[in-house]
Formats: sequence, C-alpha cells, structure tokens
Amino acid sequence: MNSRPVKTKVAIIGATGYTAVELIKILLRHPHVEIVAATTRREDNPPISEIHPCLTGRLDLRCELLDPATIAAKADVAFACLPHVASMESIPLLLAEGLKVIDLSADYRLTDPDVYEQWYGHVHTDPTRLGTVVYGLPELYRKQIPGHKLIANPGCYTSTAILGISPLLCGGYIDPQGIIIDGKSGVSGAGRTPKLGTLFSECNESVTAYSVGNHRHAPEIDQVLSDVSGTNTEVVFTPHLIPMDRGLLCSIYAPAIKKTTEQELMQVFSDFYRESHFVRIVDHLPRTKDVIHTNFCDITVRLSRGIIHVFSALDNLVKGASGVAVQNFNLMCGYDETTALVDSPQ
Ligand SMILES: NC(=O)c1ccc[n+]([C@@H]2O[C@H](COP(=O)([O-])OP(=O)(O)OC[C@H]3O[C@@H](n4cnc5c(N)ncnc54)[C@H](OP(=O)(O)O)[C@@H]3O)[C@@H](O)[C@H]2O)c1
Repeated sequence: MNSRPVKTKVAIIGATGYTAVELIKILLRHPHVEIVAATTRREDNPPISEIHPCLTGRLDLRCELLDPATIAAKADVAFACLPHVASMESIPLLLAEGLKVIDLSADYRLTDPDVYEQWYGHVHTDPTRLGTVVYGLPELYRKQIPGHKLIANPGCYTSTAILGISPLLCGGYIDPQGIIIDGKSGVSGAGRTPKLGTLFSECNESVTAYSVGNHRHAPEIDQVLSDVSGTNTEVVFTPHLIPMDRGLLCSIYAPAIKKTTEQELMQVFSDFYRESHFVRIVDHLPRTKDVIHTNFCDITVRLSRGIIHVFSALDNLVKGASGVAVQNFNLMCGYDETTALVDSPQ
C-alpha cells in the first residue's frame, strides 16, 4: 500500500522571472508540494533549468505556454508571477477552470477600479472581483485568508512600510496624515525584464530617488493602513534605487501625538506581532544583510525630538514577494504557516 501523503500540485505562471525562481526554490523544500507546470511566452518549451541554471538537477520540468485548461488538468493552485495587466488577463480564466490563485502582481490589490486606472493607467478588466479579494499580508489578514480562491499578494515596499506603521496607527501614536516613508530597494525589485534604468552601468555606484509623489505603492499603503486603523491615512512615500541585488529598507518618520517612550513603543510592536513568526522586533538597527534570503522582516523603533522613527527591512524577493506568497499558500491550504520558510531558501 502506498502511504505517501497526497501533495498539492502547483503551477508557476510566468516562471522565467525573479519572483518565480525564488518561489520555485522555496517550494522545492515544501514537503506537501509538487511543482507540475511552469509557463512562459516562449514557444520552444525550454527546460526550467536552462532559464534558471540554479535549478539544474533540482527540477526536471519544461516550460509551456499558458493554457488555463491544460494547467487546471494537472494543478490545484497557480502562483501568478506576471506583470500587472497580464495578470488580470489570465487570472479570471485560471479561476474559471477551478484553480486557486495567488497573484504576485498589483492587479487585485486595490479595491477601487478607478484608483487602479488612475495609478496604473489601464482600465481594470475584472472590476467586479476587486474588493472581494483578500490582501495577502498574513500579519494583518491571517484569519481571512483560509478558504479564499484568490489572494492578492502585497507589494514589497508596501509590506515593509505597512508592517512598520500599523502598530503605531492602531495604537493612536501617530497622525494618519503625518507619515513619511523613505524606501530603499535593491535592483531585483524591478524584475528580470530588461529596462534602461536597471542596467549595471546605469545604477551601479549610484543612488537615486525615483517616482517621487507618484509611486504605485503609495495608494496601496494608504488603502491597507486606512483599513487596519479605521482612519483615512495618506502617506508621503519616496522610493530609492540602491546598487545591490536584493533587500529593502524603509525608514519611517511620524511625529508622536501622545506622550510615550521608546521602551513603550518597542513593547507595542512586540505585542502587535506576538503571533507573527516572521516579524522580528529587534533592538539593533535592521540591515538588509540580515534578512536577505529569509522570510523575516526586522523592525525597530526610536524616539527622537518628538518624532517616532521606525526602521523596517526585508528581502523584496522573499518576504516582499515569494516567501509571503508561500505563507499565503500555506494558510489557504491548511498547512502550518511557516512550512518551507523557516530555513534559508538558497
Ligand atoms: N521583483 C520583486 O521584488 C517583486 C516584489 C513584489 C512583487 N513583484 C511583482 O511580481 C510580479 C513578477 O515580478 P518579477 O520581478 O518576477 O518580474 P520579471 O522578473 O520581470 O518576470 C516577469 C514574468 O512575466 C512574464 N511576462 C512578462 N510580460 C508578460 C506579458 N505581457 N504577458 C505574459 N507574461 C509576461 C515573463 O515571462 P516570459 O517573458 O518568459 O513570457 C516573466 O516570467 C510583478 O507583477 C511584480 O510587480 C515583484
């Protein structure tokens, strides 16, 4: 008699990118998962190990074109690692075929189709689903995730900022209109698809702000913080590109609106994340070096001249994308939330 437990069969949609390879590396360590499909627009069915040489000898699979019925015939869950717009074109078809979907793009994060159109410059083609999809940040929405068929995985800057701000807003320590977020990301945050600004000779040995006042993660941060705190929140968010492969740090500033101490604030954070294995409240100033290749987000808080300073760091490709996607998958499928995520995915 075969006593091997039944595995959940998963498909990686858009398997040739950075989040996909990170996801595959994590899922290969998952005891209850079998990766059965990987898609690309390439028509020559390349082996996945040709696309990602680090997978040589680890995953024997050829990429295929995305055909929802074919994928549904062999998989139970699809991870969509596509750019926005491409995602909302495919996801309704995957759901119609009975697949559960975790979407790593921004297409289902915002609840209002008009806000989506304003920030992404595209009419949303699946607007009735917006607002019914759970925002996949387990530290805030853990109880809502099980049972859902579509999860909107958060953005990387957004997770870093939201995790750093939520305890303060919910505790009434800061004004929802007075928050400044200074974000810094490694270059893999822009994906593997070539772009002029992320060429080595353009960004190496250089630091620059970008998308000042119009970065697409700002409305997402506003929406989630407003939801969790019950107060209309509008942040000032400025991202910077840093010449490193991966890692993301947010330095967050907000005036304290009630009398407090650094010690009290540290306790507020510790209490807020008591149930959250992947958020570490640390005494030291967080460094990207300590969180890359892990699913941890390190956070600390300081109080100086009446301004609360929060420093929050994570790996944009793990806790900021594929690691949290697996956290969501685990919750969706009834596995322990930390499965496959506690050791380094490298
Ligand atoms: N990079 C990060 O740190 C990060 C963090 C959080 C969230 N995200 C989000 O996760 C998603 C994937 O990001 P990534 O960094 O993995 O991107 P990426 O490295 O550029 O990969 C994108 C993937 O999508 C496919 N693709 C590109 N354009 C397509 C189109 N028009 N139609 C269908 N497939 C298309 C590509 O495959 P082929 O060209 O082989 O078809 C590739 O497999 C994005 O929505 C991104 O915003 C990324």
